[in-house]
Amino acid sequence: MFHSNIRTPEGYWFILNIEMLFKYSRIKCDYALGEYATLTQVKSFKLREFKPKDLQSVVSINWKCLPENYSSQFFLELYEHYPKSFIVVEADGQIVGYIMCRIETGISEFKRPIFGIAKKGHIVSIAVLSEYRRCGIATELINQAMRRMLEYGATECYLEVRKTNDAAVNLYKKLGFEILRKISGYYYDGEDAYVMGWKLKKFEH
Ligand code: ACO
Ligand code: ZN
Repeated sequence: MFHSNIRTPEGYWFILNIEMLFKYSRIKCDYALGEYATLTQVKSFKLREFKPKDLQSVVSINWKCLPENYSSQFFLELYEHYPKSFIVVEADGQIVGYIMCRIETGISEFKRPIFGIAKKGHIVSIAVLSEYRRCGIATELINQAMRRMLEYGATECYLEVRKTNDAAVNLYKKLGFEILRKISGYYYDGEDAYVMGWKLKKFEH
């Protein structure tokens, strides 16, 4: 269920959004979308919003990097509904990574705020080509996607990740995500998933 009829008073969301922007401003993100950034191992890379012409590149990266693959239609649907949080990264004249997200209204992964209902940013899929890994690209993709999800009004962010995917679990932990629960046998091959989430400081115990 992507959209529910549950409404939250505008003023309440406004306060939350101010809080979120304050928290987000402390997350390292030194450049705007569309500008080039320089890292140690990659000459330069550029983050920008996905465009339909990128579809084949993104599908190909998804197949190369992950056992969870989706139809072209699925990628395009996420782009149509949530274009701001579908971001690609260009380096050496090609697409080398992507992140795509969905905004959902449903039960808070943190059982908060009111009645446990929250607007949640769901990181559906992220991948970076192996030659371009370990130089901060995924970190920047997530930072930018989080900013965009906050603009959509999300108050928390979550994702599922394979329990044995140390690279991804470490990445999310480094960014401040915490393991919330385990879903046994979540993947088609029977592997368990961790649900990992990020919340506002305001709601912390
Ligand atoms: N081993 C251990 N820790 C790692 C590794 C690794 N191989 N890769 C990243 N990390 C952790 C480290 O803490 C790293 O910081 P450090 O380099 O200073 O030690 C931190 O994550 C940041 O790494 P980045 O360079 O930003 O990450 P990268 O651009 O390499 O991308 C990613 C990480 C996306 C997990 C990449 O390895 C990948 O594409 N893997 C295959 C696809 C995948 O598993 N996607 C996630 C599935 S879950 C989902 O999509 C919701
Ligand atoms: Zn998911």
